[in-house]
Amino acid sequence: MQPAPATETATTRAVHLLIVDDEPVILQILRAVFEDQPYRLTTVASGQDARAVLQEQGCDILITDKNLPDVGGLELLRLAKERDPSTEVIVVTGYGSLETAIAAMELGAYDYVLKPLNNVFEIRRKVERALDRQRISRENARLLQELRDKNAELEAALAEARELQAELIQSEKLAGIGTLAAGIAHEVSSPLFGIMGLAEAILDEQDPTLVKEYATDIVEYCTGIRDIVVELSDYSRAGSSDYRTAVSMGQVARDALRLVERSSSVEGVEFDVRADDDVRVFARVNEVQQVFVNLIKNAADAVRDRHGSSGGRVEVRVGREGDQVWAEVRDNGVGIPQDKLGIVFDPFYTTKPPGKGTGLGLNVVWRIVTKYRGTVNVESQVGRGTTIRFKFPTQAG
Ligand SMILES: Nc1ncnc2c1ncn2[C@@H]1O[C@H](COP(=O)(O)OP(=O)(O)OP(=O)(O)O)[C@@H](O)[C@H]1O
Ligand SMILES: [Mg+2]
Repeated sequence: MQPAPATETATTRAVHLLIVDDEPVILQILRAVFEDQPYRLTTVASGQDARAVLQEQGCDILITDKNLPDVGGLELLRLAKERDPSTEVIVVTGYGSLETAIAAMELGAYDYVLKPLNNVFEIRRKVERALDRQRISRENARLLQELRDKNAELEAALAEARELQAELIQSEKLAGIGTLAAGIAHEVSSPLFGIMGLAEAILDEQDPTLVKEYATDIVEYCTGIRDIVVELSDYSRAGSSDYRTAVSMGQVARDALRLVERSSSVEGVEFDVRADDDVRVFARVNEVQQVFVNLIKNAADAVRDRHGSSGGRVEVRVGREGDQVWAEVRDNGVGIPQDKLGIVFDPFYTTKPPGKGTGLGLNVVWRIVTKYRGTVNVESQVGRGTTIRFKFPTQAG
């Protein structure tokens, strides 16, 4: 059904005021009250027409007679609120039905106006106040929506971050397995090369005393490898101290040096180990040896890179300081650039050509030392040399 022609006044402000009253005089008065106001004004004489306007375009402010013969004022109020909850409604009613006006307010009407309309300014003020409230509630609704949108965005970002984290954990686990496997290969390869060197030496050796000495060394390296394998199969029993003994740091350092000398070419490098055999730490001997082997090997590589076959010097020192033991491997090799000092302990960081280095040596050192609640320090100057010092409690870990 088409609404009856409505009177409209277009203005620059988009506030749409819909006035409904079946009494022509009241409608006329109300139109006169707002005609000079900057509102878009629609006046209709029946509930049905008002309903059509509401359905088609809605309004910002609805001023409605409560007692319309066709569609009642309260029904219009409900329709207006249903379409847009921020629509403000002012109900026009007679003295006699003050109670129903209050009931209308309970249904969400903003205010009421009593007939006869003898104070037009009061009606204007009520509309202005209704508009103020509307502006605030619309602004609040907008802010609320903005918050909800932001919240949804944050939730989406959080979900994405969680997914990413799960992926990272997964890939880190995989990388961890890779590092572990590579680390084991690395740890096993040093004594293995030592054994190979010794076995070759035995083949050419006539002196039974030396053969015996080499064979003893082979047994020692094999024990080291066995320990690594045992440790691996005992992985689930991590933390057990089954294989810990009071390890002499000096002895281990010397053993490590021998291992390095046998497993890599260190001709021309001068080694100097000064260590008191009584400096002991409660630890797994092959782990402490692994630390020395890696540090001495790196030092030997660094001095050879700088000096070739003469002039390289590697010093190993061991000592005790309170309830801590410390050890130092110092070389006069190529040195480490300042900006690389922070990453030399990262797994797979290497400056050596493929096949020469895996970049795991210092990572193994770091893992073992921190396992014993110790610390490692690097000091280095390019072209002058490097000192790596570690320490841990005598009753470590
Ligand atoms: N004493 C040192 N002097 C100079 N550079 C060093 C020294 N020690 C370590 N570095 C640098 O740190 C890098 C990482 O050392 P790391 O022992 O972890 O691995 P790598 O020696 O390269 O390989 P590998 O796994 O065979 O030990 C080396 O490639 C080298 O660049
Ligand atoms: Mg190394």
